[in-house]
Amino acid sequence: MELNKFTVFDCSIIHFPKIQNRAGNITPIQNNIEAPFEIKRVYYLYDVPGGESRGAHAHKELEQLIIAASGSFDVTIDDGKNKKTISLNRPNFGLHLKPGMWRELSNFSSGSICLVLASLLYDEADYIRDYDDFLKR
Ligand code: TYD
Repeated sequence: MELNKFTVFDCSIIHFPKIQNRAGNITPIQNNIEAPFEIKRVYYLYDVPGGESRGAHAHKELEQLIIAASGSFDVTIDDGKNKKTISLNRPNFGLHLKPGMWRELSNFSSGSICLVLASLLYDEADYIRDYDDFLKR
């Protein structure tokens, strides 16, 4: 796949269903229905110390949905030409990251949980961890 095939403008916010009743809410996310790809892996970031940031890498093939399952944080995405920052703070909204986006997650609120749904299993070979390599791709 061409690594610069997508831009930040191809990364959109997806609004997931919210099933509400007086005892609280449920948000279901199913393969190829609410999720725009088949989910192969789920992981979550938590206990992020105040002031810390995560990410600072890109993926060659991986697609992700990034969700603030609890609390809030910011995601800055960069396709090498354009940059934008999206604040996530609702559990029924997800940021769909296409492949080839440099990303940084920051401003985690205390106790926040960043839920990530991913299209591929973990593979270090799919990462670009050097920003100059990312720009040269
Ligand atoms: P990394 O993706 O670099 O974290 P972040 O972007 O949030 O800063 O992963 C951090 C470490 O965790 C790295 O050593 C790889 C490991 N890891 C796994 O083993 N499996 C996974 O699914 C993920 C996401 C990370």
